[in-house]
This record gives sequence, C-alpha cells and structure tokens, in this order.
Amino acid sequence: MKAVIIYKGRYGATKQYAEWLQEDLRIPAVCSDDVTTQLSGSDIVILGSSVYIGKLELAKWLKRNLDTLRGKKLLFFVVCGTHANETEKLESYLATGIPKEMRSDVDAFYLPGRLDIGKLTWLDRFMLKMGAQLAKDPQVKKEMLTDYNDVKRQNLAALIQKYNSYMSVPQL
Ligand SMILES: Cc1cc2nc3c(=O)[nH]c(=O)nc-3n(C[C@H](O)[C@H](O)[C@H](O)COP(=O)(O)O)c2cc1C
Repeated sequence: MKAVIIYKGRYGATKQYAEWLQEDLRIPAVCSDDVTTQLSGSDIVILGSSVYIGKLELAKWLKRNLDTLRGKKLLFFVVCGTHANETEKLESYLATGIPKEMRSDVDAFYLPGRLDIGKLTWLDRFMLKMGAQLAKDPQVKKEMLTDYNDVKRQNLAALIQKYNSYMSVPQL
C-alpha cells in the first residue's frame, strides 16, 4: 500500500510532526501548497493541520481535494493549543473543518502544539490578544498569552500504531 503525508501549519509545529512521521514511517511528507501528483496512487493519506481561531489550516485544501481523497484511508492529526480533556472543543475543529462527506472516513488524532508569541506575525499576535480578551476565565486568559511547547515525538504513538494496523492488513 502506498501512503503520503499532507500537512499545513504556520510556525513549524505541524511540520515537525509531519517530518517525524516521514522518518518513522518512511513515506513522503508534503506541504499542501506543494502537492502535485503525490495523492494519486496513495491508498493511505495522513493529513495534518494546525488550528487558528477555531479553523483548520487545511480546510480549504480539503474542500478542493474532496474527490481525490474519496475512497482512501484517512488519518488526520490536528495540532493545537486546546487541552486533550476538552474533547468537545477538539472534535468541533474537525466537525467544522472537514467536509461532511469525509467525516466518517477519518481517524482523528489531537496533538499538542507550540506557541512562541515572539515569533508570531503582527496580525496573529493581535488575533491572539483579541481572543484572550474574550475569554471570561482569568486563568484561561493568562494561559492563552503564555508560551508553551508540547510538541514531542511520543505524541505520535497512537497514530503510528493505527497506520501500522492498516499496513499489516493483507490486500485482496
Ligand atoms: C492567533 C492564534 C490563534 C489560535 N487559535 C487556536 C484555536 O482556536 N484553538 C486552538 O486549540 N489553538 C489555537 N492556537 C494555537 C495553535 O493552534 C498552536 O500554536 C499550534 O501549535 C500551531 O501550529 P503550527 O505552528 O503548525 O501552525 C492559536 C494560535 C494563534 C497564534
């Protein structure tokens, strides 16, 4: 079975996960902006996207490529700042960002991300501050404006296990 990783992020967290997967699974990783023919002939597609203001970075690309992705096994990793225990919020990112027709075909994995406020563009920093102002809980507000880095290779274990389970199924 042939597989490929397609990802989109802004500041490197999603890219880092994609590169680790590329090394571990020995399959190509391509930024969605650079995809040409890599999807054709792939049976498994690992999709990776970060989240900005509730939206998947990959959302537009997914819509455009819906037909090409149909019938393929899809593993989706979402990279964001939302805590793992906020399941409803995490699931809402996929519920709104993935075309309806695709949702039931996707295995989802939520991976913790990274925030380095000093590296953000002026606009992203502004958006982050706006978002923090809207937060009612002072603790949440503080957390939103604090750097973090939870990007770790071991966070990929469940995804890799799922991928291997697909690869070990004999094809008819
Ligand atoms: C302006 C801004 C908005 C964000 N919005 C969200 C959000 O709505 N939900 C969330 O969980 N994380 C949010 N984040 C956190 C990012 O998803 C997180 O930093 C992620 O690791 C970025 O990955 P990337 O570097 O691959 O783009 C936001 C970060 C910024 C700077």
